[in-house]
Amino acid sequence: MFFDTHAHLDDTAFDADRASLIESFKDTGVTRVLNASSNMASSHATVALSEKYDFIYGAVGVHPDSAERFSEEDLEEIEKLLTLPRIVAIGECGLDYYYDDVPPEIQREVFDKQAALAYELGRPIIVHDRDAHRDCLEILKKFPGIAAVYHCFSGSVEYARELVKLGFYVSFGGAVTFKNARCAPEVLKDIPHERVLLETDCPYMAPVPHRGKRNHPGFIPLIAEKIGELWGMSAEEVGRITTKNANTFFCID
Ligand code: NI
Repeated sequence: MFFDTHAHLDDTAFDADRASLIESFKDTGVTRVLNASSNMASSHATVALSEKYDFIYGAVGVHPDSAERFSEEDLEEIEKLLTLPRIVAIGECGLDYYYDDVPPEIQREVFDKQAALAYELGRPIIVHDRDAHRDCLEILKKFPGIAAVYHCFSGSVEYARELVKLGFYVSFGGAVTFKNARCAPEVLKDIPHERVLLETDCPYMAPVPHRGKRNHPGFIPLIAEKIGELWGMSAEEVGRITTKNANTFFCID
């Protein structure tokens, strides 16, 4: 069994066939999916998906791209949504300095507020860190013991080790299957298996041989297979280990 810990099934890319696609996951052994939100509208769509399907969990929160529209009411709303069944985390949130549409100081403020809420409520947080390693860590270190996962990790072995030392998890997606994947295979061979999660980040980042096409949770076994090559085990075994990790991290079961 497999757990896709970071999907965007509310994305318009799934509007035409969402229901049939979701029903098809189980045939591929994907028994759990966590939908990550991008903004408040997306957070409500995540809640709706989690109410409709008992194997879909949700994270609610605001991505740095939408940080400029963030308000105090949104923070209260996030706290309220976290009381619902299967809404288990805050995210995805963080810092994205690759795109400079949103001023960094606004991104930092909005990330800081969501991290503070996660810490206060004892809920895990899904972190988006793009070209913002130092500032991301600086904010998270304000909340010692916070449960964080770095999603779509593409950093160095040294950085991964630092995150593991802080108790964080690291999540990998389709990029590990790319021929030009540089750091990810090294990181996967270096850090403890117990800290690794699987994700698609669908509809983006489809694994080989679907690279460039629409991604979806049914492709998780392809990512597990690649990690299995690095770990010297079957995709099923990788699925078992990483599903257990995800259940622990998100406090499910
Ligand atoms: Ni994402």
